[in-house]
Amino acid sequence: MAKTASLTLDSGNVELPVLVGTEGNRAIDITKLYRDTGYITLDDGFANTGATKSHITYINGEAGTLRYRGYRVEEIAERCDFTETSYLLIYGELPTGEQLEEFRRNIRMHTLLHEGMKLIFAGFPPEAHPMAILGSVVGALAIYSPDSLDPNNPEQVEVAIHRILAKMPTIAAFSYKQSIGQPFVYPQNHLSYCQNFLNMMFAVPSERYQVDPDFVVAMNALLVLHADHGQNCSTSTVRMVGSSTVNLFSSISAGIYALWGALHGGANEACVKMLEQIQEDGGNLGKYIDRAKDPNDPFRLMGFGHRVYKNYDPRAKVVKHICHQLFERHALKDPVFQLAQELEEVALKDPYFIERKLYPNIDFYSGIIYRMMGIPNNMFTVLFALGRLPGWIAHWREMHTDSGGSRIHRPRQLYVGPSERKFVPLIKR
Ligand code: CMC
Repeated sequence: MAKTASLTLDSGNVELPVLVGTEGNRAIDITKLYRDTGYITLDDGFANTGATKSHITYINGEAGTLRYRGYRVEEIAERCDFTETSYLLIYGELPTGEQLEEFRRNIRMHTLLHEGMKLIFAGFPPEAHPMAILGSVVGALAIYSPDSLDPNNPEQVEVAIHRILAKMPTIAAFSYKQSIGQPFVYPQNHLSYCQNFLNMMFAVPSERYQVDPDFVVAMNALLVLHADHGQNCSTSTVRMVGSSTVNLFSSISAGIYALWGALHGGANEACVKMLEQIQEDGGNLGKYIDRAKDPNDPFRLMGFGHRVYKNYDPRAKVVKHICHQLFERHALKDPVFQLAQELEEVALKDPYFIERKLYPNIDFYSGIIYRMMGIPNNMFTVLFALGRLPGWIAHWREMHTDSGGSRIHRPRQLYVGPSERKFVPLIKR
């Protein structure tokens, strides 16, 4: 395999180092290109730009494979709970029993929020989107945790990791309770991570509440499947913001807002809305497939397509399977699930989707499961954020501790605006 790549420029030939990843994937190292030649590279949407080396997640978009720290995601989803998966992603190895117990204990210690934070929630209007609340309250954690803000202090980083993993579910559930005017339900540390979240979401002080064990299993699998996905938009945001050496809470808050958009994590909410709209419109799938194919119509099939996967998203396969299992066990029928399956079938036979290699992604079926669990549409992306949290932490930590690169992120641009102009005074314009 070539060790260098040659680039021919006006000034002559430049030899650029070729780097090879663990799985044989290759990269041309252009770090010194500008210094040596004055050229930059241009890559709209960073579609072909490696921003860093990373040890965390391997994705083969052509084959439809995804591995966390070398382990197949399907196996992790079946055999590990979310806390164990978080440990694997953040620290690089599956924990021993003792390490896992200590990690769980450290997280449990931090589930409560400072009582003063309840006043922050009280100030939000009832119609506030829970993603907006989540981002701002996670940002506020930096105010309440001044002793764990230094990214160069390993002990402070550890405490910040435990705090944010423990408090995000509490913040997420409180944002929902605030929006429906119910009292906050405090965390119960004898419950598992997912049980605790569902209890904070659905319990009320006046009633007994038992979390459905099937929902715990499903939520756990969904969080695990969302836990990391390489240099996606929100993770790149966390790395970008973190590269200025700002604290973990502020970096994660930025990632939450990047996730909110409908082309990223917001797709699960947008997908269920789309399915409901198709259903209300008489279930005319052909009409919506035609709209998705029309270059003059901004409508897209939500939950379809992916920048990296040019094959069936391996996570979507597991999510669809969970969907089937849940509906069977609970002997339920959801016309929206039925419609989703029909839409998938029609789209996968259509030349437009075949040629562009557009398959269902993780967001196509995940919202249907959340809907069945009684989670409202506007909380779906919050659930995605809870799942993606360990991935964000792992990348932020890798950036500060490993060879992932520690320089401040500062892309260049090709300036195409006006050349220098003579200033025109206001009176003469
Ligand atoms: N429906 C209809 N056409 C589509 C779709 C879609 N969902 N996705 C891509 N295309 C078409 C697109 O119009 C383009 O066609 P043409 O070549 O004729 O111009 C072609 O496929 C390539 O699309 P692209 O926009 O260049 O692809 P991208 O890599 O920039 O975008 C994407 C990836 C995920 C943003 C896009 O597929 C999309 O908008 N999907 C719907 C939103 C969605 O489900 N997002 C969740 C992604 S998975 C969870 C996550 O990681 O956040």
